[in-house]
Amino acid sequence: MILPVVAYGHPILKKEAVDIEKGEMDLDSLIKDMFETMYNAHGVGLAAPQINKGIRLFIVDGEPMGDENESMEDFKKVFINPEILEEDGEEWGMEEGCLSIPDIHETVYRPERLKIRYFDEKWVEHEEVYEGMRARIIQHEYDHIEGVLFTDYLSSLKKRLLKKRLTNISKGKINPNYRMLFPGK
Ligand code: NI
Repeated sequence: MILPVVAYGHPILKKEAVDIEKGEMDLDSLIKDMFETMYNAHGVGLAAPQINKGIRLFIVDGEPMGDENESMEDFKKVFINPEILEEDGEEWGMEEGCLSIPDIHETVYRPERLKIRYFDEKWVEHEEVYEGMRARIIQHEYDHIEGVLFTDYLSSLKKRLLKKRLTNISKGKINPNYRMLFPGK
């Protein structure tokens, strides 16, 4: 089932999400719905707060972003109760976008490498190191469960320049090609 994607301005996007307990909810169908929702909107990542659930869960499938330099073929994953343990390497800039903030893309600087501990959809624990584009996608989605959006990193000048467009998103004055849930609705 395709779920509506929560739009910029909705309070759940600014809230720190909480850990999930094993068996607490039907995660299988939720994860299935999240993948369906993400593919429908042509995203490479989706975090639970973006479908109005304040839990520490996000999914990624970087395949559409892969190129000859960096294959993303095996980067379809589910992260439950993730914890970024370390971030290091040089900060690099990349243009980011977000399904909750349609049509806005801005350069964000983040460390190139991270170590993360998480449970997969079968509740198997992993500790892994990611770098480059994979790390970038994880950092963006991880921020969502911490209540942080990529626009939070922009300079105050950039934020001022984007203010009108962000307000329009929060008021639903946009026409994305996927279903969205607007604040106050
Ligand atoms: Ni996002």
